[in-house]
Amino acid sequence: MSNNTITVTSPLLPDLGEFNTMLQDIWSRKWITNMGHYHEELEKALAEYLGVEYISLFTNGTLPLITALQALGITKGEVITTPYSFVATSHAIWWNGLKPVFVDIDPNTGNIDPTKIEAAITPNTVAILPVHVYGCPCDVEAIDAIAKRHNLKVIYDAAHAFGVKYKGKSVLEWGDISTLSFHATKVFNTVEGGALVCHSREMKEKIDHLKNFGFEDEVTVVAPGINSKMDEMRSAYGLLNLRQGDAAIAARKHVAEQYVAALKNVKGIKLFPYEIEQTLSLPLSFNWNFAYFPILIDDSYPFRGNTKGALSARDALYEYMKSQNVLGRRYFYPLITDFEPYKDYPSATSANLSVARKIADRVICLPMHHALTDENVQHVLDCIIK
Ligand SMILES: Cc1ncc(COP(=O)(O)O)c(C=O)c1O
Repeated sequence: MSNNTITVTSPLLPDLGEFNTMLQDIWSRKWITNMGHYHEELEKALAEYLGVEYISLFTNGTLPLITALQALGITKGEVITTPYSFVATSHAIWWNGLKPVFVDIDPNTGNIDPTKIEAAITPNTVAILPVHVYGCPCDVEAIDAIAKRHNLKVIYDAAHAFGVKYKGKSVLEWGDISTLSFHATKVFNTVEGGALVCHSREMKEKIDHLKNFGFEDEVTVVAPGINSKMDEMRSAYGLLNLRQGDAAIAARKHVAEQYVAALKNVKGIKLFPYEIEQTLSLPLSFNWNFAYFPILIDDSYPFRGNTKGALSARDALYEYMKSQNVLGRRYFYPLITDFEPYKDYPSATSANLSVARKIADRVICLPMHHALTDENVQHVLDCIIK
């Protein structure tokens, strides 16, 4: 990769001097993992920043998904979910020995289409596992109503939804449990990391046991839990990064504004999800975090490069951008249901998932992060428009 490559994302890094001071403190405490000082501080700080009461730190964003199903006592049955996500969403169902049932997505948002959920419910359905794709909230009210009507649990994969608010409150307040990823590629990162948000002290205690092998106290194991603790170094790093969270989101917004202004009327390009089009001009029911900047390319988009016929207009643009040192990401492509472990489920057919298929075949996420300069953004736009 050349030095002037514009990457699709770039990690938010804390100031090295400040991090070093914290490391010195950790060294002097001689307590480097197992719910230490900085672990406690970060849980408190995140609860406040995100506006939630009960949050548990995890070592990544996949284990809280797996643990959420266990904490809710879901041991058998079917879980309704989306094919349009990172594969970890379905893996969490698989690791619990449950059956994923895939439901198509809303063409305007990429989130699970609530109008199609009820048709997928059977006597074996136990839960719904939607994803707030790109950080845009699902139709949480419709999903809540369906869950109540059918007595189902709801776990939101909110890996992308750090800091997102819906109608003035954290979107993490919806559902029985929400999970976050603090992976290096995310709006807020702890290198690797994640968290689980729940709504009662009892549930948080249960989850804290589950992430520590099931230990309730020194001599009692209450469940076959896993080891998913966040260590002190990453907790301290997270505390420092949290201080720059608002500034990072503001910088992302500035990038989005430039993309929207330049791309909103380009033939063959649809800004997606629809909120991107509205975010900058209309008051929204939610505060977005600008986690990604996805666009959809259809075949009326003028073809880039010299591989016409061999590639779709989307793939040609993707390859052309690469040739100009701009790395987009076809996210989410392929669909989860294209992968070997999931492709043979009855709900994995293209006929059942036609919207997801179409979007996966057209999407490119443009470079989006806090450190992009106006010049970088212009170079990305030149690849697309010139
Ligand atoms: C939607 C979604 N769910 C789950 C995960 C898994 O998170 P992690 O990589 O922190 O385990 C990711 C990470 O990319 C994700 O995007």
